[in-house]
Amino acid sequence: MKENHFAIHNDPNGHELWRSISGNFQRFPEIINEFVDDALSNFRATKPDQRRVEIRLRQWEEFVDVSVVDTGTGIRDIHAALTLGNRSGGETNLNEHGMGLKHALASACEDGSWSIQSRTPEDNTQDRHLVVRGPYRLGDDPMTGYYLPGRGVLLGPTGTAVSFTCTHDFFATLRPAGDRTDKPFEVLVDILLEELGYTYAPILGNGEMEMAVVVGDHVYPVEPIFPTWDPNCFKETPPTVLDLGGGPVTVNCCWGLIRADKDNHIYYRGNMESSGVEIRCNGRVMERGLDKRIWIKQPHPSRNHFLAVVELTAEEPGAFPPTRPTKTGFRDGDPRLEKLFAWLRANVAPASPQESVEKRLTRALEKRKRAEPDVMRTALEENTYCSLNLKVKMDLFVSRGDQTEVYESKKGPSKALDLYQLRMYWDGCAVDGRPLSRGILVARNHPREVQNLVSALNDSYRDPTGQPYHLSLLTWEEVGIDPKAV
Ligand SMILES: Nc1ncnc2c1ncn2[C@@H]1O[C@H](COP(=O)(O)OP(=O)(O)OP(=O)(O)O)[C@@H](O)[C@H]1O
Ligand SMILES: [Mg+2]
Repeated sequence: MKENHFAIHNDPNGHELWRSISGNFQRFPEIINEFVDDALSNFRATKPDQRRVEIRLRQWEEFVDVSVVDTGTGIRDIHAALTLGNRSGGETNLNEHGMGLKHALASACEDGSWSIQSRTPEDNTQDRHLVVRGPYRLGDDPMTGYYLPGRGVLLGPTGTAVSFTCTHDFFATLRPAGDRTDKPFEVLVDILLEELGYTYAPILGNGEMEMAVVVGDHVYPVEPIFPTWDPNCFKETPPTVLDLGGGPVTVNCCWGLIRADKDNHIYYRGNMESSGVEIRCNGRVMERGLDKRIWIKQPHPSRNHFLAVVELTAEEPGAFPPTRPTKTGFRDGDPRLEKLFAWLRANVAPASPQESVEKRLTRALEKRKRAEPDVMRTALEENTYCSLNLKVKMDLFVSRGDQTEVYESKKGPSKALDLYQLRMYWDGCAVDGRPLSRGILVARNHPREVQNLVSALNDSYRDPTGQPYHLSLLTWEEVGIDPKAV
């Protein structure tokens, strides 16, 4: 060492280091994904016959005991596996940072109430399993591992079980973002099933891995969750091999509008949070809701049903854009990610905003009217009140023989305000010199107050030219349109 130089004593303290890496995961499922990723990685590398992951839950007082148990071939090198940042145990590109297991455990239970059981083929021949228990320690006071006879909590002859106890409050971070309402345990379990079914959908769908959530005697299989595409609005690119900068990656991309799945808690609900671009690496979702970063467009409710699914497939580690250490997204600014975005900008055009249900209903009505034999002209969104330049657009105008009709459509129950809107169309047409013969408000149903108002307007009021109104109410059923079918 040079003169005047001295060593900096910066050996980390295990407890402090553990605390410092906790708290980076926002939500409970992000932690479970880390353990499932490790199991999946092992399945992919070693191809065991049974490829099952069970997430076992037990609620007690204000805590939840959690075990993620897999039927892989066990942890090959427990020393490397428990060393922060050590990547020597990496088996596939799902083992990226050398952190997941430790990072997730530190975030789930800062106090160290965790344990790992693992059984390799060699342990199997000796009928034993390895046990390591928290808290995490470093240096002169190391953690210790020990062997116990038998399989412990494992499912098969070999495998790994990662167990921890977290607070119920942390478990409840399963709630959809922004939802602060208290959810019963069963609902949170249901959300966990949805989270896993979404994150690993193609992998569960093609049988590469099976998963279940186990609560007491109940075994809930994890079913894959896929979007339901609107067949009229679906496009896909042929499989394309790209080199983003780290080896060949096959890109499959499909996009379009989806049918909202309101039974889901979080995904494919046709709302702003669940729309946009989702990117999967070898089936595992890595990031979603990305369209703003790709097309520099602000999220807008009119694009709530837009979805693009980008499937990246690669073998080589480093072929994919790198992820954040929590695997909840890609690292911004990486050249591989930028290259992928450039390709998407060139090849995917976000679907045009979806028409509202009301517009589609009106369009269906227009089609029916056009088909009627005496109808001469139909017009959607035609201007009225032109003489006052009010730029009021009528939902639907229909002329037949010497009769003219105007329609106002509402998808739900009608309101008094809707009737006034219809009256405005009528008044506008009257002052524009093309008087109407009938004004019709079409809605799902018409409450009594709207029925009373229509009678009052017809019986006692006059339009600006002194003529009586002929307004009427119809339901979608009465005009022969099924609102669910449009
Ligand atoms: N369920 C498992 N079955 C087999 N090996 C495992 C399992 N879990 C962890 N390991 C081993 O432990 C190592 C460390 O896991 P950890 O999740 O901490 O890091 P990683 O997976 O290598 O990287 P990343 O930070 O991207 O998750 C893995 O590389 C793997 O060798
Ligand atoms: Mg990992």
